[in-house]
Amino acid sequence: MQQHQQATTTSSVGTSAAGGRSPIEQGLHADPGRYRVLTGDRPTGRLHLGHYFGTLQNRVRLQYLGVESFILVADYQVLTDRDVAENLDAAVQGLVLDYLAVGIDPARATIFTHSAVTALNQLLLPFLSLVSVAELGRNPTVKDEIAHSRQSSVSGLMFTYPVHQAADILFCKATVVPVGQDQLPHLELTRTIARRFNARYSPRADIFPEPAALLSAAPLLLGTDGGKMSKSRGNAIALADDADETARLIRGARTDSIRRISYDPAARPEVSSLVLLAALCLDRDPHAVAEDIGDGGSGALKTVVTEAVNEFLAPIRARRMDYAQDPGIIRSVLRKGNEHANAVAEATLEEVRKAMKTSY
Ligand code: TRP
Repeated sequence: MQQHQQATTTSSVGTSAAGGRSPIEQGLHADPGRYRVLTGDRPTGRLHLGHYFGTLQNRVRLQYLGVESFILVADYQVLTDRDVAENLDAAVQGLVLDYLAVGIDPARATIFTHSAVTALNQLLLPFLSLVSVAELGRNPTVKDEIAHSRQSSVSGLMFTYPVHQAADILFCKATVVPVGQDQLPHLELTRTIARRFNARYSPRADIFPEPAALLSAAPLLLGTDGGKMSKSRGNAIALADDADETARLIRGARTDSIRRISYDPAARPEVSSLVLLAALCLDRDPHAVAEDIGDGGSGALKTVVTEAVNEFLAPIRARRMDYAQDPGIIRSVLRKGNEHANAVAEATLEEVRKAMKTSY
């Protein structure tokens, strides 16, 4: 059991920033057919601009590079947060609408839900046997979630969901996982599980690849209050918000008392995050955007940001409204995605059964 004692650190995660000329990026461009991407979201509420520039934009880019993509609606993992579980179906529908609105194309990408893919869930059991309770207890992201949880007790799922997440990634043998920094401990655990499974059950021919994390190249956007952008904090601009709501949120955004606008994230986080938001929407350099506003102060800054965001989101919002008018669209997207995910998961589970000598 020596290998169970191994410390998992994030330093060995095959991390790579999107957009840069990292080996993974080069590989993705040179030979997209060799890679498989999986990523996903908990259906907790509508996606916001932080999600867009942090990950959604990159997913669409990878899709058009021709990399096979799986996009998971994590409707079991979200049960770690009971507050949202009550409106789960509405949250799932909203999430799928957001995906379609930003340009994820169900003809190219597989959009699927945890709850519909039985064979994926079955991988959880052998995977749980490969990790120790101590390892689960050390996961910094889970610790943080427990510390901020509004629930009175910690569920077994909260403690074990990173292992379930390994099943999400390994059922389709994903090689690249675009995620944020907070997901790196889960990626490291996934790599550990892949390695241990291969070593124990299939030492001569690996069944599972060790996936690499692909970190977003976009710097972090803050919420309008200067804190972490999150819908539950009321500081996020949702993709589905209308132009007036967006203007209201930006008008109320925190700034500082220095009149001259500059881009200096360390010294002026709130102002710089607004400048960055405008720059991302305008596809310009943030220093140049700040320079243009110059002595205009936060009033002028907010006008520029509001116009940039509303113009940028207009086509996304229009597409979202169109899709929302088609009552059968969500069901048919998920039915097709789930069907494909089930076929892939069944094939992997069959390999796992053979390797574990439980194929009767
Ligand atoms: N844990 C991710 C989040 O909270 C969602 C998720 C579930 C995920 N399974 C995944 C992300 C697999 C990447 C790969 O946002």
